[in-house]
Amino acid sequence: MINKLLTLKRQRNAVILAHNYQTGDIQDAADYVGDSLGLSFKAKETNADVILFAGVHFMAETAKIVNPSKRVLIPTLEAGCSLADSCDANALAKWKAEHPGVVVVAYINCTAAVKAQTDIICTSGNAVKVVNSIPRDKQILFCPDENLGQWVMEQTGRKLILWPGVCHVHVKFTAESLAKLRAAHPDAKVVAHPECLPIVRSMADEVCSTEKMLAYCKSSPAKAFLIITESGMLHRLKKELPDKQFFAGPTDTCSCNECEYMKKNTLENCVAALENLAPEIILPEDIRQRALVPIERMMALGR
Ligand code: 13P
Ligand code: SF4
Repeated sequence: MINKLLTLKRQRNAVILAHNYQTGDIQDAADYVGDSLGLSFKAKETNADVILFAGVHFMAETAKIVNPSKRVLIPTLEAGCSLADSCDANALAKWKAEHPGVVVVAYINCTAAVKAQTDIICTSGNAVKVVNSIPRDKQILFCPDENLGQWVMEQTGRKLILWPGVCHVHVKFTAESLAKLRAAHPDAKVVAHPECLPIVRSMADEVCSTEKMLAYCKSSPAKAFLIITESGMLHRLKKELPDKQFFAGPTDTCSCNECEYMKKNTLENCVAALENLAPEIILPEDIRQRALVPIERMMALGR
């Protein structure tokens, strides 16, 4: 399957971009593996004719928004995101109308139709920087992840009005299960994604995006880490830092946690997507152009 994928990739002049939560075989076949922010920049910069986006739908949509002349494929349209689904464009329009004059900051985990109604996009890698770029006298609406929003409030000392959305994967990590794992590995550093609940974040030595997790573990003198995010992240950490030990964040019922949407992508449907040049991301041009504005504002702030 890997040989087939790489042959098709050459024939189609395609680039394979994969998120850190993809299965190990897809990560190993990809040209670039990263977080939402890094993947957005890679999608914008590529010279390939085709982008095979091994991630979830909002990520592939973002690639199409920033680089519309490319054919953007996703292995399956079932790779959605429950957090993005929690924020409907019509409901956002109503929320905005109730708060005239505010600045709308949206986490990149939202649909193109939602992005089109916002002032600036952020990712977990730059949310603090994005909010700090907005004048302090401005009131901010933040959607759709309330845990990331709360973390940004703690980091910036600003009050944000939060959309009540959560990532169902990250809120499954509990303080109790983490406390047990920490007791078993007392020297390990705890690294958590900002989508986790405040109680879980408060137990972490570092709270950051998936890409920054790699940088933190690389530069830390510690030898063991508890990684409180989707378990696909461990493949990259173990591969790039083979001398260190990584343990998956536990839930109350399981010793790790997976995003079922990210895991809808397989080597098989990656091959099929390049063979069939489908499913393809197609966006209405007016939505794409309006969604591009807040993404470009974010990108202008740098990586
Ligand atoms: P990152 O941008 O930190 O990789 O997060 C993406 C995501 O979907 C987290 O659930
Ligand atoms: Fe969406 Fe959560 Fe899956 Fe990330 S882990 S893609 S936020 S459902």
